[in-house]
Amino acid sequence: MTQRYVLAIDQGTTSSRCMVFDRHARLVGMAQRTHRQHYPRSGWVEQDAVEIWRTVERIVPAALRDAGVAVEQVAAIGIANQRETTVVWDRKTGVPVRLAIVWQDVRTEELVERLRELPGAQRIRELTGLPLATYFAAPRLRWLLDSVDGLRERAERGEVLFGTMESWLIWNLTGGEHVTDVTNAGRTLLMNLTTRRWDEELLRFFDIPRAVLPRIESSTGDFGTARTVAPGVRIGAALGDQHAALFGQTCFAPGETECTYGTGGFLMMNTGTELVRSEHGLLTTIGYQVGPEPVYALEGPIAVTGSLVQWLRDIVGLIATAPEIETLANTVDDNGGCYLVPAFSGLYAPHWRSDARGLLIGLTSYVTKGHLARAVLEATAWQTRDVVEAMNADAGLRATSLRVAGGMATNNLLMQIIADVLDIPVTRPLVTETVSLGAAYAAGLAVGYWPDLQGLRRNWRVAAQWRPCPARTVRDAEYEQWQRAVQLSVGWVR
Ligand code: G3P
Repeated sequence: MTQRYVLAIDQGTTSSRCMVFDRHARLVGMAQRTHRQHYPRSGWVEQDAVEIWRTVERIVPAALRDAGVAVEQVAAIGIANQRETTVVWDRKTGVPVRLAIVWQDVRTEELVERLRELPGAQRIRELTGLPLATYFAAPRLRWLLDSVDGLRERAERGEVLFGTMESWLIWNLTGGEHVTDVTNAGRTLLMNLTTRRWDEELLRFFDIPRAVLPRIESSTGDFGTARTVAPGVRIGAALGDQHAALFGQTCFAPGETECTYGTGGFLMMNTGTELVRSEHGLLTTIGYQVGPEPVYALEGPIAVTGSLVQWLRDIVGLIATAPEIETLANTVDDNGGCYLVPAFSGLYAPHWRSDARGLLIGLTSYVTKGHLARAVLEATAWQTRDVVEAMNADAGLRATSLRVAGGMATNNLLMQIIADVLDIPVTRPLVTETVSLGAAYAAGLAVGYWPDLQGLRRNWRVAAQWRPCPARTVRDAEYEQWQRAVQLSVGWVR
């Protein structure tokens, strides 16, 4: 019998990747391409959705070639994507009305300030599980409708369509399906978290015409069949990338927690079929929905983790390659009293302070490059602790271990520091491509390629584990210093 495979497309912030998995969740082929980032003004971040689609057109056949797999052998496609990045395109021509506005973009700051003053603003968290913030898609869509000439009228006539990257890719792959899934729709501020439908009250609040919105499916739903790139293959699943990571790490039980460390860090804790409302600055989100009921999660997004190392390499020039940070940080035993709060675009969870800016404090003549490198790594660990403490408080559950993946999870020193700072074991699985794997798992479940969640769990194997070293009092004292530094960083922008 011919072997069958599942194909995952991970459309991320800096690149798009395509991976081919076999039945044992082994990665048998992959391809990757980056796309350009546009920074037309301070705080603006844009990407060309057409360029992104062109990269996807190239990586899918390249990954199949790499795997030695024919299109006919692909059982299903799963899509995972950078969330909240907003595209609007013409329904007839498929041409985007302008560049996509990326999730890191803060141009809507003033708009969000104004919206916060409106009646109904205090209902947003209750309806969506999210704070009213520039991070999410609705303010971007509203900004587009207000700023692009004639766009609102075209939107009202149903001539243009809104989507985040999964919608855009599926529309192009299928030749016209306009669809999203609950995890992505749940990041717009327009979906009601309980009904999992677009919400009239929210549409009115943001002044968004319903005609632009895609239909909402479960994560494993009816996303159509590809007509191009992998013709004839069913698109079995779509999920936001961090939701896919939760799924790929097989965090299927309440309390199971994972973090993907990329440019930013995204922690997710499975809270089961119960929707936990956060009182400590986290997001309540749908983890995934592969059956009739969704599984909820608490999420703590951290805006800057890996990008801090990039900044040190590309802008400051302290290191030549990213892995050098570990070598440099290993030249010292501690941070030498120095703390770096990387609030480059304000602070996300659990603080949500867009008025915070980056801060380096505790400098003395004693501080060396090694201490600075250590402070850079520790910034990720302290921010992780901020989020995990909030999760434990909100969920009434304690995270007993943290599963990690993403580029920074290859940094052994950082993983040890995180284990120490959290005082729980940190585990890296054998397959660290958890975003793609999660998308593949969901797509495979949709078409019966994998029978159930239990089978998927058996594929998850430990590659490395870091246990906390006992020095609690020192760590707690340092954590207090970190919290003081965070307090100093907020309120900087007036
Ligand atoms: O919410 C934004 C997030 O989905 C982006 O993830 O890995 O593409 O930077 P990543």
